[in-house]
Parts: sequence; structure tokens; C-alpha cells
Amino acid sequence: MTQISADIRQRLEDLRVALDDHNYHYYVLDDPQIPDAEYDRLFRELQALESRYPELASEESPTRRVGSSAETSFAEVTHRLPMLSLDNAFSEEELQDFDRRVRERLGTDVPVEYVCEPKLDGLAVSLHYEKGLLTCAATRGDGYTGEDITANIRTIPSVPLKLRGSDFPDLVEVRGEVYMPRAGFEKLNQGLAAQGEKTFVNPRNAAAGSLRQKKSTVTARRPLELCAYSMAVTDENQLPATHWDSLQRVRGWGFRINPEMRLAVGADACLEAYNDLMAKRDTLPYEIDGIVFKVNRLDLQQTLGFVSRAPRWAIAHKFPAQEELTTVEDVEFQVGRTGAVTPVARLKPVFVGGVTVSNATLHNMDEVRRLDVHIGDTVFIRRAGDVIPQVVKVVAEKRPAGAPEVTMPKHCPVCDSDIVQLEGEAVARCSGGLYCPAQRKEAIRHYASRKALDIEGLGDRLIEVLVDEGMVATVADLYRLTRFQVASLERMGDKSAGNLIAAIDRSRNPVLWRFLYALGIREVGEATAKSLASWFGTLEAIASADEEALQQVPDVGPIVAGHIRRFFDQAHNQETLQALQQAGVAWQTEQVVAADEQPLAGETWVLTGALSRMTRDQAKEKLEALGAKVAGSVSKKTACVVAGEAAGSKLAKAEQLGVPVLDEDGLLALLDQHGMGAE
Ligand code: IVH
Repeated sequence: MTQISADIRQRLEDLRVALDDHNYHYYVLDDPQIPDAEYDRLFRELQALESRYPELASEESPTRRVGSSAETSFAEVTHRLPMLSLDNAFSEEELQDFDRRVRERLGTDVPVEYVCEPKLDGLAVSLHYEKGLLTCAATRGDGYTGEDITANIRTIPSVPLKLRGSDFPDLVEVRGEVYMPRAGFEKLNQGLAAQGEKTFVNPRNAAAGSLRQKKSTVTARRPLELCAYSMAVTDENQLPATHWDSLQRVRGWGFRINPEMRLAVGADACLEAYNDLMAKRDTLPYEIDGIVFKVNRLDLQQTLGFVSRAPRWAIAHKFPAQEELTTVEDVEFQVGRTGAVTPVARLKPVFVGGVTVSNATLHNMDEVRRLDVHIGDTVFIRRAGDVIPQVVKVVAEKRPAGAPEVTMPKHCPVCDSDIVQLEGEAVARCSGGLYCPAQRKEAIRHYASRKALDIEGLGDRLIEVLVDEGMVATVADLYRLTRFQVASLERMGDKSAGNLIAAIDRSRNPVLWRFLYALGIREVGEATAKSLASWFGTLEAIASADEEALQQVPDVGPIVAGHIRRFFDQAHNQETLQALQQAGVAWQTEQVVAADEQPLAGETWVLTGALSRMTRDQAKEKLEALGAKVAGSVSKKTACVVAGEAAGSKLAKAEQLGVPVLDEDGLLALLDQHGMGAE
């Protein structure tokens, strides 16, 4: 056996202590002390040492939290003290009754002090520590026997494997709730849905499912946390006088206890705590289903004792449920402003999460299929936090005979254009982009935007008003607006009305690529619009090209070609184009430059400094028409730099890298040579 130096033993121990400490700060105190990258570095160093010196391995090492792929069998564990449940109060009266019973039993009129704790919605676990080391963790089971889940519990970072400090009894049991915070739950479900797997209905189920995993490596990847809410010791002399103080001790040993916990004297103060916590409910990072009131003094708890399976000294005051059952009366389809068609369930109204819910989005057809929703189905509706109501589960057994399936309509319910769903895409879309009333505002906004027809002054708010007032339905209507009409709008002076009309007027003669881009055809961005324009030269040629011809254009693949073809095939889009022409919009034709005539194809050019005979944008358009890409920075791969007046660092860099440089005259000569000279 190799002799392991004292230095190595020390380093290993130091790393374990440091990592434990960082874990504690991160997961229990929510107060990280070092960046994640530094933590990872220390973690890897410890892993490396442990694999090099296996004889120094330890069960309590932070590296063991990644779990093991050995399958556990969840042996039975008998609880030394039964794990009881709580009685519930659903109203103010029931809480007052509870408090009265407590005082009667104690034979006192003096208001009783209670600890008020959020009731976390997870599952109860019991953890045993011997001489400060975690030896056994168990589920509640039936309250008398549970299952041994030690291997899984050890992977939860907020569970101490070793108690902190030295002030702990030889044998101690800590109980608490294992739960999954909302954010982790959402992320887990998104991941499962993306893989086409079954999702969890709520964080509680997700926590339970994660703890029940046979391989602890799976549990280790689930975002579980533990919050302690009680402790028990064999030697009662070691107990403090109150529940509150016992939890402070538990905190000192390295457990997370709930920061919302507080003391209240008498039932009215408890109700106040209930209302305060209720108001905070949606903002907490985890789900709670009520508040637990516990008599604080342990000697009084002892006097009160238990009845059947619940203590007489505690009660859970429940909040309104966040999940309810209802039926799907119909499924309708809504069209969003970008044309996405979304199935929406119309529900029999149900009170859930504090509001009456009568609609829930089904997102898309993949989700409809995943849930297997039929019209008439009984479903679980969940509304947690300020999240929109969700259909989380269908109760298959309650499906009425002949319940119809949900199918995506072929035509847009708003404008009757074709609905298109591409393979591999979850979202179906209406193809009447320019015409569809649901997409009106978005289509106009895009048409007027700076990179499209650049209609100055036509902002989102004005578009909103023009459409809502019925003055503009399609982009063609913009050209029929009068100064008088615009000036009549609220908060619109005569001068700005005049400016707007002038700006609209200036957009009547767009270059072809800008006009094409302005139409808002799916996936036709600026670059594709430019390629199409210089390839075909006229809109008519593009509109009549078949998909094969479209795919000849550089950068145009089958998907984009399909989008273009469908756009021009929609009768409504053709009508809008005609209306634009009638309104006096005349898009220019463009010089056709075929690919084999694109002398700069595949080259990257950079423009820098000021040009005097054309703008930078004009120079860029011309270079692009010759096939070049125009980039913003110089590298070894740059084919040529055009340097105007007062060119600075880019010119210097070009010279340093030996990239060819042209001045403005050189550029003009090149453009002339290819028939692209100044107009
Ligand atoms: S005390 C004898 N405190 O609620 C007292 N329970 O219905 C037993 N729970 O099984 C539990 N938060 O899973 C207690 N702060 C809290 C709690 C809490 C959640 C759960 C626990 C228990 C169930 C009782």
C-alpha cells in the first residue's frame, strides 16, 4: 500500500469541509459564497483525489450526493414515534373552535401562543442521525411504517449528511417536508414534455415521484429541497421549552427551516398570520396549501396529547385549492397576432386558485394529443400562482361514450385562409398574414418598421388606434388615409398628421427587396428578401415561381420556398397586393444578377469611413447585389475593405492583416464595371 502523505489527507478533508460549507450557504442559506465555476473546480479536485486514493472514501463526502445507479428496494422502516397527520380547519370558525378546545383542555383563559408555519405541499420524511451522521431516512407511509429512502435523500443538497457544530444529542430525529420549488418543477416538466414523456401534474407529485426512484442518480438530478419542521430526541431532558426553540436548534445543525415562520398569541393573531401568508402565497418560490398552527410550549403539547391520528395541539388551516375537476364543454381555436393558432378549452366554470376559471389554453395540438383531451372530458384544472390556468390531466374513466376528438380546423376561424402546420413544428399558423384581422396590427407594424418600408411616425400606439377606430384594416388602407382623418384622432395635431401622411407617401416607391421583406412572409428576412429580389427582379416573377424555381435562389431551402409559395397562393394576400397597387404603391424592379454572374459571391467585404457619392447603405446594397456579404469587422477572411474619408481602426487592421483596401473611386470603378454604377 502506498503511503498517503499527511498533506493529501489534510487537503482531502479541507476540500470536504469547504464544499459542505458552500453547499450549506448555497442551498440552506440561499447565500452563495463562491461562483459556481469555483465550486465545480473544488468538486472535481476532490473527486480526483478520492478516485486516486479509494481508501480515503467517505459516505459523507459531498461527492456522494450524485447518487448511485444501483437499484434500491425501499425496505420497510418502523417509526419509533408514529408520524401523525394534522386535522384541518377550512374556515375562521373552525380555527376559533380549535383554539377554544385547546384553552378548555388546558383549563385556561389566557391566550395561547402558537407557532405559525407555512404548510409546504410536498411529502413528510423522517431523518435519523447518530452521533451527527445521517443513518436512515424514511417516508411517512401509513404513519407507523414507512419506506427506507436513505440513498435518495442523501442526494438532496439541503439535507445535512453530517450535523453542523457539536451541540447535538447522540440520537436525534428530524422531520420535515421534501418539496420541489416551482421553478424546478416547471423546468423538469418542460424537459419531460420535450422528450415526449409524461409530465407531473403538480410539484407535490413531482417530489413524490422523484423520491420513489429506484436509482438515486435520477433523484440527484431532480431539484428537491428539504425544510425541517420538527425534531424528536430519546432523552427528553435535552428538549428546549418550546417548539420555536427546538427549530432554532435544528437550524443550527444545518437544516433549512421556513423563513416565513412566526409566533402568534391567540386565534385572532393566527388569523392575521393566515391572511398575511395567503397574500404572499403566489410570490413564494414553492407551493403551500395552508398554514399550520402549533401550540408553542412543549409541556402544553404534552398535556394536550393526541386523538386518533392527529395531535390536539396543532391544526392546518387550508388555503383555497389550486386544483379542481371540471368538464371541457368545447375546444375553440384562437389566432394570435403572429398567426399562431392555439386550441383553447372552454370549461364548465370552476373556482380554483381563488378565481373562477372558464377557459384554459391547450397550447398546441401536441399538447392536446399528449393529454388526450376529448370534448366532454372531465379534467384536472390547475391554477397556481399567477400562472394561466392549465389542463393537467384527463380523467379517462369519466369520458362519456362518443366524446369527439379535438381536431385542428383546416381554415382560419378568423379569416378563412388555410391553416398550415409544418412537419416537426408544434405550432399551426394561419397563412393569411397580410389580410387576417387577428394579425392586422402586427402585419402593419412590420410593414412600417425601419428595416421594411420605414414609415416614420407610424408607431405601435398609432397603429392600435387606427385599427381600433376602423380607419385601417390592411396595409393598403394606409395609402387612403387623409391628413384630415389623422388629425381628428385624439392627441394628434395637424402638423404630426401632415408628417405622417408625407411619410406614408414617401413609401409608395420601395425598392423590391424592402417591399418583399415588408410583406411579412414567414422566414423571409432581409437577406432572403435581397437574394430573391436580385434573382428574380420583379415581384410578379417571385409570385409565380414554383417551389423548385424558388429553391434555386441562394439561401432558399424547401421550407422557405413553401412559405413563399403559400403566401402568394392565398387569395386574400393577392387581393391585398392588388389593393396596394391600386392605392398607388409601385415597387421597383431590380437588376437581375444571376448566381454565376455574382462576381463577389462568397466574399465578405467591410465598409469603413465616410463615402461622399453614396451612402454606406447604398454601397452595402450594391455589394450585396454582386453577391458579397457585408460585415462589420475585419478579419483574415475579409476579402476587401472599402475605406472612405477618416477611416480608422478597421483600415489599420486591414493593413496589418494584409487585406486589400479600396478607396471610394476604386469602389465606383468596380461597380461601374458590373453595371452597378451610380444612377
Ligand atoms: S407537522 C404531528 N408542519 O402536512 C404533526 N406538517 O397533514 C405532523 N406538512 O404529513 C406534521 N408542512 O407532510 C407539519 N410545517 C409543517 C408542515 C407539515 C407540511 C405536511 C406533512 C404532514 C402533513 C400533515
